[in-house]
Amino acid sequence: HSGHQMGGMNGMNHATNPDDLLPVQALPVGAALAALPLLANESKQAGKFTGRLTAKAHTLSLAKGVQSEFWLYNGVLGGPQIVVYEGDEVSIHFTNELKQETTVHWHGLPVPPEQDGNPHDPVKPGQSLTYTFKLPQGCAGTYWYHTHAHELSAEQAFRGLAGTFIVKSRQDPMADWPEQHWLFTDLRLDKNGKIPDNNMMDWMNGREGQFVLLNGQLQPKISIKTATRIRVWNACNARYLKLHIPDCDIIVIGTDGGLLERPQAPVSELLIVPAERYEIVLKPRKTGMLSLQNLPYNREKMMEKFHPVTTPLAQIVYTASDKALPKHLRSLPSFGKATAEHTVGFSEEMGAGLKQMFKVNGKTFDMQRIDATSKLGATEDWLVSNASHMDHPFHLHGTQFEIIEFIDSAESSKPAYRSLKDTVNLKPYQSVRVRCRQDFAGLRMFHCHILEHESLGMMGQVMVKA
Ligand code: C2O
Ligand code: CU
Ligand code: CU
Repeated sequence: HSGHQMGGMNGMNHATNPDDLLPVQALPVGAALAALPLLANESKQAGKFTGRLTAKAHTLSLAKGVQSEFWLYNGVLGGPQIVVYEGDEVSIHFTNELKQETTVHWHGLPVPPEQDGNPHDPVKPGQSLTYTFKLPQGCAGTYWYHTHAHELSAEQAFRGLAGTFIVKSRQDPMADWPEQHWLFTDLRLDKNGKIPDNNMMDWMNGREGQFVLLNGQLQPKISIKTATRIRVWNACNARYLKLHIPDCDIIVIGTDGGLLERPQAPVSELLIVPAERYEIVLKPRKTGMLSLQNLPYNREKMMEKFHPVTTPLAQIVYTASDKALPKHLRSLPSFGKATAEHTVGFSEEMGAGLKQMFKVNGKTFDMQRIDATSKLGATEDWLVSNASHMDHPFHLHGTQFEIIEFIDSAESSKPAYRSLKDTVNLKPYQSVRVRCRQDFAGLRMFHCHILEHESLGMMGQVMVKA
């Protein structure tokens, strides 16, 4: 395999010819939705989770005669799921058996910066590192972990290095509801079943494959027999998912950083951008067979769309009877007034070459440069603006923020509800103000979560100082 830097930027062609891809019909559909396997807790001590992750190449066969090499945690497509409680002490012994350096980043979790898998702290091939952190009260939510290797995370992620992480609360108002987990990932296979390198268009627009997998399966059959709380992850490098189920409403009850204050009014569509998570409950208008669809979303003003996947993402057999949701889910903390404001501008520069194309405040990522300084424990605003003609999801490490306002051509609008998030989408020429606090001193990253853009340097770093 080619890549040392930028994972296959050499020998790139412009786009992928559909004839060079495995036909979508090559993979089987309709198997029962698989549960994400759990990472075993090796600790016998209450309040402690000890687990082992190994990143390594594995060849899987998704269809007869198709052999694909993935890079996986513990050999699991979709990663082993880590489930812990607020207050737990977590230690994950990580071993890198890849041929290149990598890290494990705990996306959205309040972990100390030196434990957060920053690109500054690579685990070299053949080396191990133990990540340890204690999860504070109040951080129950739906998180994930993934590679954050310098310039390599886009490639390592589309080859499979991502997994899910759930923090539970001992005071969960929905503890008696059964849960389902829907992890969406994107996959491209060439006609030989291999995962090809990124081409020029992938680096520019973000990579999308011909398959959208749900828990590693193509178009699985989901069965819902009792009213169910569903956690949804968009772990695609770049694909925007706009979920829609004809004859069925979606009730949002939670976001990245956990439950909302109360269940929201039913919606018929739910946009989930890369790295976002939602907790939802379904309200069908009929029982029986439902189809989970992905509506087209135009995230680039100048092109029609990239690689639409409009075939159903899953079939749902819904036979549950209605069950009342709690009216109140939890109280969200108030951040109070902001004492500082950071401004972040996303922009693109055409014709400058790939590695100079995607900028934050006019610059590409430099590990030696600190782009902003935050005060430990202080409430601060981040005013993020998008000067480009495509959507970019903004992500800040180490904390959860509240969206204060969206600004579209000088018009301010409030979000529909209060929530805790670590990733928010910016439409072209839109600005978003978010408010948060950093509770650990040290270095944090902020970046576009289209992972190709992140790996090309659409990223900055903020130093949190006491
Ligand atoms: Cu999902 Cu910098 O991370
Ligand atoms: Cu992150
Ligand atoms: Cu971007």
